[in-house]
Amino acid sequence: MSTKSDILSILEEKRPSFISGQEIADLLNVSRTSVWKAIRALENDGYVISAVRNMGYRIDGSSDVLSKEAVLSSLGSGMLPPRIEVLKTVDSTNSYAKKLALEGALSGTLIISEEQTAGRGRRGKSFFSPQKSGVYMSVVLRPDRDFSDVQLITLAAAVSVCEAISELTEESPQIKWVNDIFLHGKKICGILSEAGIDLEGRGIDYVIVGIGINCTTSEADFPEMLRSIAGSIGENGIQRSQLAALVYERMMRYFPRLGDGSVLDRYRDLSLMYGKEVEFIYDGQSMSGVVLGINDDGSLLVRCHDGVKISLVGGEVSVHGDFE
Ligand code: BTN
Repeated sequence: MSTKSDILSILEEKRPSFISGQEIADLLNVSRTSVWKAIRALENDGYVISAVRNMGYRIDGSSDVLSKEAVLSSLGSGMLPPRIEVLKTVDSTNSYAKKLALEGALSGTLIISEEQTAGRGRRGKSFFSPQKSGVYMSVVLRPDRDFSDVQLITLAAAVSVCEAISELTEESPQIKWVNDIFLHGKKICGILSEAGIDLEGRGIDYVIVGIGINCTTSEADFPEMLRSIAGSIGENGIQRSQLAALVYERMMRYFPRLGDGSVLDRYRDLSLMYGKEVEFIYDGQSMSGVVLGINDDGSLLVRCHDGVKISLVGGEVSVHGDFE
C-alpha cells in the first residue's frame, strides 16, 4: 500500500471528522511533508479535501470518488470481500469478473468501475455507463445449490439495491419484475446475472451478478432514446463508494439464505407489479393480463383477460399506467 492509499483509508475512516496532519504522520510514521504531498495527489484524483488550521484535514461531504479504500471503510469488518478491484475504466465489469471467475476467483469477489466502455444489459442490449455518475459493479458468486435458485440470486440483488438506496437517501425505489429498479416512474438500475456451468456437469460453477445504478446522471446526460425511460437517484449527496459497499453487504447477507423465504418476502414488499395491467409475449403471442403476484420460484403470476392464469419465468413485460 502507498502512503497516498494509507492516508485515503484514514480520511475515509474519519469521515466526516477532521484529523490533524501530525496525527496522520504519526500513525503512518512518515513526515508531515509526505502527508501534504499525498493530500495534493488525492486532490488531483478528484477528492475535495478541506484543510483547516488547528483541525487538520477531512474529505469534504461533496467528494464522491469511487475508491477501494472508501468501499472497504464502509464495509463491516465481517463483510470484507476476498478480493476487490475498483477500476477507473473497463469494458464491462461482468466480463472482467467472468475472466476472474474462470481463473478461480473466490465467491464474494467484487469488481467496481468508474465507467464502462461496453456495459452490457439483458437481451444483448448495451448499458449506458458514463463515468463519475453511476455505480457499475459485479460480484462473483459460487452457489452451492441447484439451478433453480439462480433466479433468486437476481431477486436478492434487486432487493439489496432497493434497501441500500432507501437506507442512504429519503427515496423508496421499487422493483419492476424481474430485476429493474424504478424510482419516480423511471428505471434507475438494471441487473444482469450470468452463470457459468461446470464443464464436468456438476452444475453451476459461478454466477456473476452485475449491477448498474444511475446515481447522479442528469436527464440531459442520457442518450436521447433513453431519456423518457431512464432516471437516476439524483443529487442528494450519495457517496457511490458507500452505496456500492451497502449493496454488496446486503447481497452477501442474503446469498447464504436464499432458500429461507426472506428474499422473496422482501422482493414482494418492494414489487411495483401487484394489480398492474401488463403486456407480454407468451408462446410467440402478444398477451395481456393483470399481475396477481410473484410465485415462490420468482416467476410472475398473471391472470389473462380470458381468466387463464400464466406463470412467466422470464422475458420482458410492459406495465400499463404510471407507477410513481
Ligand atoms: C439491464 O438493465 O438490461 C441490465 C443492465 C446491467 C448493467 C450492469 S453494470 C455492471 C455490470 N456490467 C455490465 O456490463 N453489465 C452489468
